[in-house]
Amino acid sequence: MKIAWGITGAGHLLSDSVDVLEELSKDHELTILLSGAGEEVLKMYGLFQRVENVTGGRYRELVLENEQRSSFPMTGRFSLGKYDLLMVSPTTSNTIGKIVNGIADTLITNAVAQAGKGRVKTGIIPVDLESGDLNTVLPSKLELELCQKCETCEAAAACPNEAITPGVEINLLKCKGCGACQVACPFGAVTGGRKITIHMRDIDIQNTRKLFEFDGIEVLEHPSQLKKFLM
Ligand SMILES: Cc1cc2nc3c(=O)[nH]c(=O)nc-3n(C[C@H](O)[C@H](O)[C@H](O)COP(=O)(O)O)c2cc1C
Repeated sequence: MKIAWGITGAGHLLSDSVDVLEELSKDHELTILLSGAGEEVLKMYGLFQRVENVTGGRYRELVLENEQRSSFPMTGRFSLGKYDLLMVSPTTSNTIGKIVNGIADTLITNAVAQAGKGRVKTGIIPVDLESGDLNTVLPSKLELELCQKCETCEAAAACPNEAITPGVEINLLKCKGCGACQVACPFGAVTGGRKITIHMRDIDIQNTRKLFEFDGIEVLEHPSQLKKFLM
């Protein structure tokens, strides 16, 4: 099958999504589309390289929003029905909000809109699925209450991207999620994958509910459900 997989800028379900797309790439031609935020967040969680590794060749491209212009010409492939399936996972509340309101102004929202026009089967895995609280994980984080403000910051010295301002913060736009800082700090002041609980906003849950009623779009709860969806 020719499958396109869109990744938006959500940390939640990101690692699970990468696991599944790696599996999928063994048996299918897989084009991967990254929203601008999707690219940034993949790098922060140290997952960008794994995504890049499964791409290469026609219909196995890595398509970056930041390399497309405003009309997203690549998404014409969907209106021409060139793909058998479009998956978007994980899907941010931002992207869901745009899709349910018919907005197409990013690489991923354009892909979904054009897939609808080309009758390409579309599966979306939203991050905001049910009201209440959600447990999710953070990328690398400098924990200031543990930071000893050492004269020489081992974590900053270990960072190949100069992403750490000692005693202040990690610049996540420079961080590539390699985790060297976590190993280097003798006080454990840099965490990676710390669990936090976030509250789902009503507006985001309402938007996800609208998505369930969309023609041609199937809403899945988790990337692991994809195999069932493919059958
Ligand atoms: C580390 C990090 C994790 C994020 N995780 C989420 C998330 O799980 N869900 C979400 O809706 N937005 C999340 N965001 C915010 C989105 O990246 C942001 O809203 C972005 O504008 C979405 O753009 P996109 O929908 O075009 O990808 C996260 C941002 C950062 C920096």
